[in-house]
Amino acid sequence: MAAMLELKNFEYYYGNIHAVKGIDLYVNEGEMVTLIGANGAGKTTTLQTISGLTSPRGVRGEIWFDGKRIDKKKGNKITAMGLLHVLEGRHVFPQLTVEENLKMGSYLRRDGEGIKKDFQKVYDLFPRLLERKTQAAGTLSGGEQQMLAIGRAMMAAPKMIVLDEPSLGLAPIVVKGIFEAIKEINKRGTTILFVEQNSKIALATADRGYVMQTGEIVLTDSCANLAANEEVKKAYLGG
Ligand SMILES: Nc1ncnc2c1ncn2[C@@H]1O[C@H](COP(=O)(O)OP(=O)(O)OP(=O)(O)O)[C@@H](O)[C@H]1O
Ligand SMILES: [Mg+2]
Repeated sequence: MAAMLELKNFEYYYGNIHAVKGIDLYVNEGEMVTLIGANGAGKTTTLQTISGLTSPRGVRGEIWFDGKRIDKKKGNKITAMGLLHVLEGRHVFPQLTVEENLKMGSYLRRDGEGIKKDFQKVYDLFPRLLERKTQAAGTLSGGEQQMLAIGRAMMAAPKMIVLDEPSLGLAPIVVKGIFEAIKEINKRGTTILFVEQNSKIALATADRGYVMQTGEIVLTDSCANLAANEEVKKAYLGG
């Protein structure tokens, strides 16, 4: 079976800066995969290129999603194909209410019944959002905004969601809840790739992982094996 997402010898250049130096990565349908690594490793660049958010001029190699080549496609085309990106730092619409933000997520859909069901799913998963559905998104806490950003992606009924640092700036207890929710979304059938600097929770949540270092993949394995690897422990898990 072909992978849902596949990068073949992917490279990225910001002008002369060679940010990603030829990586191979795949995510099978139904899988949950994490990409970990230190600051500046090229994780965000990789995710943003997958979603069509970087300049195509900097791209080398191939990116395939759902049987089609997407490395020269624009972000809106890729979204319409069913690949949703939850950005680093969240990006909700601050003036709109929680409910309006969620509705924005479904703007490409015409199946009213399905949309209604997905509202219910989001509120089941994040009861906080239901309590706050008429509140302006800009007044939500950081953790609630992250829930909303994830909920908004769910409202598009995507085949795949990619997330950049879902734990960024959140208290440990909130992080735990966010990852439980992401795991639940995956269990319900959405394929997931996420980038994380919190390697501990990343390796505890995903099925498989890639370790990235200065633009290269230096290691890939099941998360169980990565978490038990001495080098990974030393470099990313605090000993
Ligand atoms: N717009 C840009 N112009 C030039 N260089 C950039 C640009 N964006 C990123 N870079 C460089 O590319 C490299 C990879 O950055 P990237 O943001 O992908 O790393 P990252 O792994 O996501 O890091 P972090 O964990 O800090 O978020 C870094 O050296 C960064 O300085
Ligand atoms: Mg980043």
